[in-house]
Amino acid sequence: MAEEDVEEIFAEHLSKNTVFKNRDALSPHYVPENLPYREEQVQELSKTVAPILSGRKPENVFIYGKTGTGKTVVTKYVLRKLREFAERKGIPVRTVYINCRIHNTRSRVFIKIGTELMPGENFQGLSTAYIYERILSVIRERDLRLIIVLDEIDKLKGISETVYALNRANDELERGSISLIGISNVLTLKDSLDPRTKSTLCQHEMIFPPYNAEGLRRILEDRAKEGFREGAISPGAIALTAAYAARQSGDARYALQLLLRAGDVADEESASVVTEEHVEKAKERVEEDIILEMIEALPEQEQILLLAVAKLTLTRKGQTTFGSDDVVLTSGEVYEAYARLAKELGREPVSDRWFREYISELSMYGLLNVVQAGKGFRGNTRIIRLLFSPGKIVSVLEKTLMA
Ligand SMILES: Nc1ncnc2c1ncn2[C@@H]1O[C@H](COP(=O)(O)OP(=O)(O)OP(=O)(O)O)[C@@H](O)[C@H]1O
Ligand SMILES: [Mg+2]
Repeated sequence: MAEEDVEEIFAEHLSKNTVFKNRDALSPHYVPENLPYREEQVQELSKTVAPILSGRKPENVFIYGKTGTGKTVVTKYVLRKLREFAERKGIPVRTVYINCRIHNTRSRVFIKIGTELMPGENFQGLSTAYIYERILSVIRERDLRLIIVLDEIDKLKGISETVYALNRANDELERGSISLIGISNVLTLKDSLDPRTKSTLCQHEMIFPPYNAEGLRRILEDRAKEGFREGAISPGAIALTAAYAARQSGDARYALQLLLRAGDVADEESASVVTEEHVEKAKERVEEDIILEMIEALPEQEQILLLAVAKLTLTRKGQTTFGSDDVVLTSGEVYEAYARLAKELGREPVSDRWFREYISELSMYGLLNVVQAGKGFRGNTRIIRLLFSPGKIVSVLEKTLMA
């Protein structure tokens, strides 16, 4: 028997037990070949960057739109096509994609650009001014036309300095250029920028509208064709997923996550077709995923506080015959538990004023329920109840905080 035949047996075995053909095609980082309902945006962005091919510096672009409206995927798609085209024609175009949630200071942005342009070199710990000069010399040397994407630019500390420094480079470059694409889902960001930064970054502005249910259905259908085996997902499941996501303000990320999870549920149940029932079951899980992601992104002190509440709730739960839904805590004991935990983690506990502030923020996020205690309690006592699974909070936050 030939090696290929053996491989085929294994491959067949694998594919039998799953509805997926290519699970990756449903992941948030995948850039598909088709972007339905974003044809206009693809065209507009392509036209805006096209002058780079004839050696002119494209306008800087600012892209705004709610979460899951395709800003990142459209930008990556257009820049990939631009690079491929430029390469075929032998034009020195480079693009650097930077997620400002990770590279969130001017110095980190410069280190990232430096490392992309000069792989193998270590810029850690070097001055920003030095890295800047090195970047400029590479651009001059290669007559490079560079586009830098600052995705989630609202997360960048020092937007003005970063934008200013990168844009000013063009005055110092006799050859090559740097253009910027800033992306954000924060509506108020533009108006919070100082006038000079605003006019620099927003030379060209684009707004991505949310998708409607029909748009989401088309997007899901295309992605499902790549992601699922033929006939392994029912049209009803796709329509239901699209309808749910349309209610989530037209968020395509949510739609895809829901579809992926529905596939997982179907696999767990050894079903050969994903149905509406699987989507229903997946919905709970996705909502939980979203809450857990939000918890992971909380400021550290709020995480410590939430972890203290979760641990206390678990202890109490063990002491009553009721579920954790019935565990109520007083603000006094929560503060004590929080302060103890903070010290254990080697952090300074915050004062009572900040503690109150954090408690009310966590209740605003829907993680805690807080009410003023009635008679029989000391003056300012509040009664606190956890609204999300304490076990899940502990497992996520212990990982995050111990890391
Ligand atoms: N028109 C489309 N066709 C196919 N897939 C799409 C389309 N629009 C969005 N997606 C997919 O939906 C998900 C979310 O899109 P994307 O990451 O571009 O959103 P975003 O606007 O950048 O959101 P955020 O502001 O939260 O970063 C991605 O997996 C992306 O591939
Ligand atoms: Mg994005």
